[in-house]
Amino acid sequence: MKNLRFACIGCGEMGALHVLNAKAIPGVEVVAYADVRPGQAEKFLEQYGGDYATTDPARIFADPRIDGVLIQTGPKHHPALGIAAAKAGKHIFMEKPVALTVEDALELERAVAASGVRFLVGFCNRLAPAVVRAKRLVPKPWITVGQCADSIVHQACHNLDLIVHCFHEAPLVSVYASGGTYYGLEADAHLPADSFIATLGFADGSQASYVQHGKGYNALMGKYSFQLFGKDRCAYIAKRFKECHLSTGLGGVDHSHVFTGPDFSPTDAAKHEQNVRGPHGYMGHFEELAALCASIRDGSEPPMTIAHGRHVLQVEAAIMASLSTKAVIDYPAFLSKWKTPQPAKAARAAVSAS
Ligand SMILES: NC(=O)c1ccc[n+]([C@@H]2O[C@H](COP(=O)([O-])OP(=O)(O)OC[C@H]3O[C@@H](n4cnc5c(N)ncnc54)[C@H](O)[C@@H]3O)[C@@H](O)[C@H]2O)c1
Repeated sequence: MKNLRFACIGCGEMGALHVLNAKAIPGVEVVAYADVRPGQAEKFLEQYGGDYATTDPARIFADPRIDGVLIQTGPKHHPALGIAAAKAGKHIFMEKPVALTVEDALELERAVAASGVRFLVGFCNRLAPAVVRAKRLVPKPWITVGQCADSIVHQACHNLDLIVHCFHEAPLVSVYASGGTYYGLEADAHLPADSFIATLGFADGSQASYVQHGKGYNALMGKYSFQLFGKDRCAYIAKRFKECHLSTGLGGVDHSHVFTGPDFSPTDAAKHEQNVRGPHGYMGHFEELAALCASIRDGSEPPMTIAHGRHVLQVEAAIMASLSTKAVIDYPAFLSKWKTPQPAKAARAAVSAS
């Protein structure tokens, strides 16, 4: 089996994590590094090994020995780099968010479709062991309640992806949100809010309630948490997706089905040594790269597609529209202005990939 040869574009925090994860996947190499910051790609070359480093991603795209690219530069640069990679015939892993606007995401989507390359967006949490477990325990929640601390642009996309492409399988039909600007985060990207509460309604009558609350932290709940309420049970994904608890009692808490995912702290060198699933092994980062490589090898569609990356931006746009107008958004009518289908079958793909 020929090795898959990747190049890392964007040698920052996530670049390091994905390069380490790639090293843990059999038959995968990272051979080149690009970063616009002078000296940054060289640092990666020195640290992780490979053939060359450059400040010019075009050198990577022109290199016929490279099969695919790991792009994690931040959403302002993702669309242009992704389009260039697709035109060059390189398979693409791209960190979330794929873009800052639906229009830019659509342009990227068209380039990916025209090229036929495999594209996986880094909605890693869908493959996180605790999330996969919760989805199995409560496959069709009546109500989902989620929360996340941090910025809308960088974090809401992960959790909205889980809600609309994993936990709830029926199409999204209504969106209502209220909130405000309390922290002044990322004012260039997502006004009119940096915190919101959203209620999402689905065609089967199920609902999700989601709180995105800017800077804040709850040591007990973790940066993200979700509760999935089913007929006779509730699954609780806690502590940044390290744990999945199940309660089947009414009023009482039943911890008899506790799953604790592996914890590979990026600051614990000893754990790295023993780690066969890369850093942050509990969050699905290793699984997402492995899934992309499997798709490249067998030609199948990866579980998290460019359509999912674009669709989450449309859900965010509906939330922002509801915040501005204070109205319930009729989601199918809202979507019709872009004439794009809702992606389907994501949840089943994610579960079977686990
Ligand atoms: N999935 C996750 O768990 C997760 C976690 C954190 C961040 N992210 C996402 O990963 C992306 C990167 O975040 P980060 O924390 O690694 O950022 P970072 O700032 O640490 O790294 C980004 C790097 O990209 C480089 N860069 C910028 N524009 C470039 C260009 N045009 N060509 C080449 N290099 C360029 C920068 O110089 C920098 O070194 C963001 O989109 C973020 O939302 C995902």
